[in-house]
Amino acid sequence: MQLTTLFSSITINSMTLPNRAVMPAMATGYGNADSTVSDRLIAYLARRAQGGTGLIITEVCAVLPRGKGFPNEIGVWDDNFIDGLKRLTNALHLHGSKTALQLHHAGRETFKAAAGDLPEAPSAIPSVVLNQPCEEMSFERIGIVIDAYGKAALRAQKAGFDAVEIHAAHGYLLTQFLSPFSNHRSDAYGGSEEKRSRFVLEVIEAVRKEVGPDFPVIIRISADELIKGGYDLGFMERLAPRMVSAGVDAIHVSVGVYSTPGNLSIASFDTDPGFNLSRARAIRKASGVPVIGVGRINHPQMADDALSRGDADLIAFGRQHITDPDFLNKARQGRFDEIRWCVSCNQGCIERLGLEMKSSTCTFNPECGREYAGPAPLAETPRRVWVIGAGPAGLSAALSAVKRGHEVDIFEKDAFPGGQLLPASRPPRKEIYMGWIDWAIREFTKHNGRIHCQKEVTRKTLHAKKPQAVILATGAYPVTAPIPGIKGDRVFDARDVLVGKVSLESPAVVIGAGHVGLETADYLISRGIEVTILEMQPFSPVGKHTAHGYWLHRRLKQAGARVVLNAVLTGISNATVSYTSGEDRETVAAAMVVTAMGARSETSLESALKELSIPYWIVGDAQNPRRLLEAIHEGYRAGQEI
Ligand SMILES: Cc1cc2nc3c(=O)[nH]c(=O)nc-3n(C[C@H](O)[C@H](O)[C@H](O)COP(=O)(O)OP(=O)(O)OC[C@H]3O[C@@H](n4cnc5c(N)ncnc54)[C@H](O)[C@@H]3O)c2cc1C
Ligand SMILES: Cc1cc2nc3c(=O)[nH]c(=O)nc-3n(C[C@H](O)[C@H](O)[C@H](O)COP(=O)(O)O)c2cc1C
Ligand code: SF4
Repeated sequence: MQLTTLFSSITINSMTLPNRAVMPAMATGYGNADSTVSDRLIAYLARRAQGGTGLIITEVCAVLPRGKGFPNEIGVWDDNFIDGLKRLTNALHLHGSKTALQLHHAGRETFKAAAGDLPEAPSAIPSVVLNQPCEEMSFERIGIVIDAYGKAALRAQKAGFDAVEIHAAHGYLLTQFLSPFSNHRSDAYGGSEEKRSRFVLEVIEAVRKEVGPDFPVIIRISADELIKGGYDLGFMERLAPRMVSAGVDAIHVSVGVYSTPGNLSIASFDTDPGFNLSRARAIRKASGVPVIGVGRINHPQMADDALSRGDADLIAFGRQHITDPDFLNKARQGRFDEIRWCVSCNQGCIERLGLEMKSSTCTFNPECGREYAGPAPLAETPRRVWVIGAGPAGLSAALSAVKRGHEVDIFEKDAFPGGQLLPASRPPRKEIYMGWIDWAIREFTKHNGRIHCQKEVTRKTLHAKKPQAVILATGAYPVTAPIPGIKGDRVFDARDVLVGKVSLESPAVVIGAGHVGLETADYLISRGIEVTILEMQPFSPVGKHTAHGYWLHRRLKQAGARVVLNAVLTGISNATVSYTSGEDRETVAAAMVVTAMGARSETSLESALKELSIPYWIVGDAQNPRRLLEAIHEGYRAGQEI
């Protein structure tokens, strides 16, 4: 592969970048509670700089305390922040990366707990997603905030940043002023397109005035809000040259706001790679300055093609930087096989941060967020380690242990490694998950690890061979409820259906509307089967607030799948399923029935390990049926502890 354009240099104002790869701002939650930069954040970003990225843009950094989007967001509203930020720029410069500070004010997209006061916004219209009350900004307050942007930019310059990026995307304060949806003012800052643009243009002018003519100023925009009543691409095409006249040197073209259906600002695997490049191209044409393209561009070849076509001048690889900090250097050296790809699942990063209120990491990169600690040293006494089960937990544990010098054998009773990730990667759009299994196997065998498939470990084998340490990664087996007829000939487990062990017949009834049930329904529909989904709860366990949840529900609805809630099953016959829903007794035709009713941990070998006094670790679903993140991270940690 020829990556000539991606690895060519580019100059923005006075800043010359060694290549056109950008790490965009991505909040981590690693900052200190007092909004100063932490060692953890520095180590995390420095690890990405080490990977060869031309420009690293820090995560959101609040220009005022009231602009904080989450409690430990870093800040730059006072000179006291400069020293900490300087430590950060020094660390990134050591690796040859340039770095920009992202200047942020969340406006109404925050909570009182983070902002320390009622969130402020152009109009007192609560966020559609957070639904928090907020206060309309007075003229005086608008002046204070504009001034704060300028002062913040100057502090960034003093701290050694090579550029600043004004965050005017994703529905935060600056977008809120631009948008007719959130700006209902009738004064000089609202109403006409001209007046809605005024705040952003004045922020740019304030920043430019403070940093002088030579300092690079980037603005990040959402090219289209993609909401009813919001602004569109045409509006941004008209605004772009005016932002340039006000003082910006480059435009970073993102898309969407908090309430955009399907979270296109951080798109899941349900959305095509590179889906936002056409907007970058339009803004490039309209503005005449360099633009940064972004949005599910993981593969360096795709980036290089987009640059060569003239869609953009630089490409931001967001989550790909989280999953594999070395992917650019690997690509530069043609080692594409070694790249661990981001699958755009959002589970470990944005959903963990935004929905679980925990610091960000990556489902597939258990080292993300622990860079400050580094991997455990090589084992002093290498041991003969058995990993039982080649699912995600087992593969992750085996790789972690083998890299530390242990002699590792994985035993898998099935014909192929992968565990539940094999069925998990069969529904539409989820094929991408297979890439991790292939990557993990390649890495493991490269380190001389051995995988033995179709080898079930039993109590007898353990007694006979007595390995020195065992990682029990035997996963979980599916369970069903005691419904009359559940053992019938045409009743199958979802996993068997997904891996092709079952001949499909229409119509099908799927029992359970969790992820496994809905994705199996999606799979069946993609193969022409008519589907009814029965769920005993009054709501589907899969929320529409996650990107994948939204698209999954949408696909099912568009395909005409029927989801029946509050359905209590009363019986399954050869051709029907009966249930009650409230007062009603219903029967639905079913040429096949698919169960997706949960799983139970498989730990039957634990007693033998205890009897033999073999040190052991139980990881992943074998400990408790959960998700990939827990399986992969627990496996990794066990390998580090052995
Ligand atoms: C259809 C489906 C979709 C899913 N989608 C997602 C998703 O999108 N995101 C997510 O986070 N999670 C998802 N999950 C859940 C996720 O796949 C599991 O949490 C994860 O696979 C657990 O990994 P594990 O290694 O602990 O166990 P498993 O994946 O169950 O692997 C255990 C392995 O051990 C083997 N084994 C068991 N006993 C023995 C023995 N005695 N000797 C040798 N081998 C043995 C089994 O054959 C199996 O290969 C999905 C699950 C399913 C079924
Ligand atoms: C965990 C996480 C945090 C993010 N935080 C920010 C942020 O602080 N500022 C910002 O402008 N965008 C933020 N984003 C959006 C990313 O910068 C990027 O635009 C998005 O992930 C799409 O790019 P990708 O598909 O290459 O990941 C965040 C994304 C993620 C996954
Ligand atoms: S958690 Fe998922 S989306 Fe986030 S970086 Fe990792 S693989 Fe990508």
